[in-house]
Amino acid sequence: MEFNRQTAEQALTKASESNPGAWTDHSRYVAEACRNIALHCEGLCAEQAYLYGLLHDIGRYAGVSSERHLIDGYRYCMERGWEKAAQICISHAFMIQDIDTSIGTFDVSEEDYQFMKKFVANAVYDDYDRLVQLCDSLALPTGFCLLEKRFVDVTIRYGVHPATIARWKKILEIKELFESKTGCCIYTLLPGIVENSFR
Ligand SMILES: [Fe+2]
Repeated sequence: MEFNRQTAEQALTKASESNPGAWTDHSRYVAEACRNIALHCEGLCAEQAYLYGLLHDIGRYAGVSSERHLIDGYRYCMERGWEKAAQICISHAFMIQDIDTSIGTFDVSEEDYQFMKKFVANAVYDDYDRLVQLCDSLALPTGFCLLEKRFVDVTIRYGVHPATIARWKKILEIKELFESKTGCCIYTLLPGIVENSFR
């Protein structure tokens, strides 16, 4: 299946009908953040970045789940031949390439767990993977926000885990990386961030 704005938007709309929730608005803001940042990075395609952001949580179409949404999204995209989007469905949750740094629960079969473990360890990340990892932490369902605000939002919902601080540090590192690529503060690329962060 073609991978473009129309097919990706359709996929998200359908998924939001089968499992309605705040995750779809979050996904739209992640997509917008990816696009806005990629526009200022040499060698990145803003449209591709938008699509990867839009679909990173598409596995939630299958219902309310924890880490199962990662592999559900991977399969969903692979079935359509969207290989890079499929990788990002898993990689966005592993800014550290170690399955033990997960903050969710593995509500998957043993076989799927082993697959994910290997996948995470062996995946070769590029700037699209890193961009979605970053933007996932820049978007609440209501709009863009300070990374630290999203960190607290996620931690309140998922709890404190042994890897929580290492994950935060990694995201802050990725922020630095994209600020050196864009040559500006990434927050200046996210309209409404002040209003949404302080609401
Ligand atoms: Fe997300």
